[in-house]
Amino acid sequence: GTSGGVDRYEITQRAVTAEVLPGVRTPLWTYGGTFPGPTIEARRGRPVTVEHRNELPVPTVVHLHGGRTPAESDGYPTDLVLPVGWRDVPAGHGGHGMPGMGGMRDPRARTTNLTREYTFPNDQRPALLWYHDHRMDFTAPAIWRGLAGLHIVRDDAEDALGLPSGPRELPIVIADRAFDEDGALAYPALDPDLRERPGVEEPYLAGVLGDVILVNGAPWPVHEVDAARYRLRVLNASNARHYDLEVVLDDGRRLDLVQIGADQGLLAAPVTHASLPIAPAERYDLVVDFADVPVGSLVRVINRLGAGRTRDVLAFRVARKAPDGSRVPEVLSADLPSWDRADAVRVREFSFRAGQVNGGHGWLIGGLPFDPARTDVTVGLGDVEVWRLVADVHHPVHLHLVGFRVLSRSGRPPLPHDAGLKDTVSLRPGEAAEIITRFDGYRGRYLFHCHNAEHEDMGMMANLEVV
Ligand code: C2O
Ligand code: CU
Ligand code: CU
Repeated sequence: GTSGGVDRYEITQRAVTAEVLPGVRTPLWTYGGTFPGPTIEARRGRPVTVEHRNELPVPTVVHLHGGRTPAESDGYPTDLVLPVGWRDVPAGHGGHGMPGMGGMRDPRARTTNLTREYTFPNDQRPALLWYHDHRMDFTAPAIWRGLAGLHIVRDDAEDALGLPSGPRELPIVIADRAFDEDGALAYPALDPDLRERPGVEEPYLAGVLGDVILVNGAPWPVHEVDAARYRLRVLNASNARHYDLEVVLDDGRRLDLVQIGADQGLLAAPVTHASLPIAPAERYDLVVDFADVPVGSLVRVINRLGAGRTRDVLAFRVARKAPDGSRVPEVLSADLPSWDRADAVRVREFSFRAGQVNGGHGWLIGGLPFDPARTDVTVGLGDVEVWRLVADVHHPVHLHLVGFRVLSRSGRPPLPHDAGLKDTVSLRPGEAAEIITRFDGYRGRYLFHCHNAEHEDMGMMANLEVV
């Protein structure tokens, strides 16, 4: 609904069962009864208020990933929406991945309500954002159970480009999951390959993988398309799985992936890829042209990193010839920030490495596990900084509040898919990447963390105070 220039949504977080796999019912935690949750359609500069009501058995936190959001609506991990009927929050926390085992108190927690109103100004470049749970220590199992949805920001300039739209613009939310024989989600679930890997003493450590690939909540869907251009807005909503996407025809031909946008909106100009790696939480805005595909053919989107059934992601069936008035302009956007090393007032370095947390295995930033009572980094509002991020194994690193540009990877130029404005950068094993950003937007307490959701729950998160 609309009132006084603000669009309002009401979302009830509730447990449902749904037929995800044919013939069995799967218990899910949902935003509004579906996985993914309802898509929030927003216009640039027009605020959206979302009232979340928590009818789940545990506290929750809602974060708009990629949103330029005032801190009080950013979903700090201890800023809880308590469940309806919740009487007491036990002190201390039960450890990651144990849904329902406990909550926690943070003296600075601002709200403990059964409902919570989040306001998103949408004062940012048009982009595919997503909202998901962000409760301290429990984010990974909450997302796994279904707490994720899309939030799309659009504006007139983007609408005027003539990109494929309407039924030819498709959100593609990719998430792997594992199920037991009854159809219930299995968490943690181990990929058989993972079990073999040395140093994995506990199932969560490398991140939880599933052997079923869901796209928009359905396993390996086949989508009927016209022989025309499509805009695919891809989100990797998996907890830990990386994909390297490739589009292939039965006759062995490959279709180009024309990248038009990154996490934080349109690129300056399109970039064509043969295949495209996507880490957890990353988004790619892609155009694929089915015009030359014979009617009746199946076009498969595969994951080159997968094996067996995790190699398949989804497929398109080209159903008919049809006119196509869409285009991919040479110039997509002219408003990308042009920060340069010379603008930076500071260079910081952070290591993302395994380490000990409370005597067990965990993941650390700069040698420390997440602590809501500690300020790790203080930046001045409006400051441009360069951050050097150093990884031991694969870590997709995400900053709240800001978009950034990738400057370098281990001293070399960024990769072709690093183009544009990002909010998550996929650090490869042993890599040191430099990013540059301006911390503008709002003052307050934000976060940066690894978006392998299990790594995040196991400590790989830090506080970022904008003053
Ligand atoms: Cu997608 Cu801090 O989150
Ligand atoms: Cu985020
Ligand atoms: Cu990580």
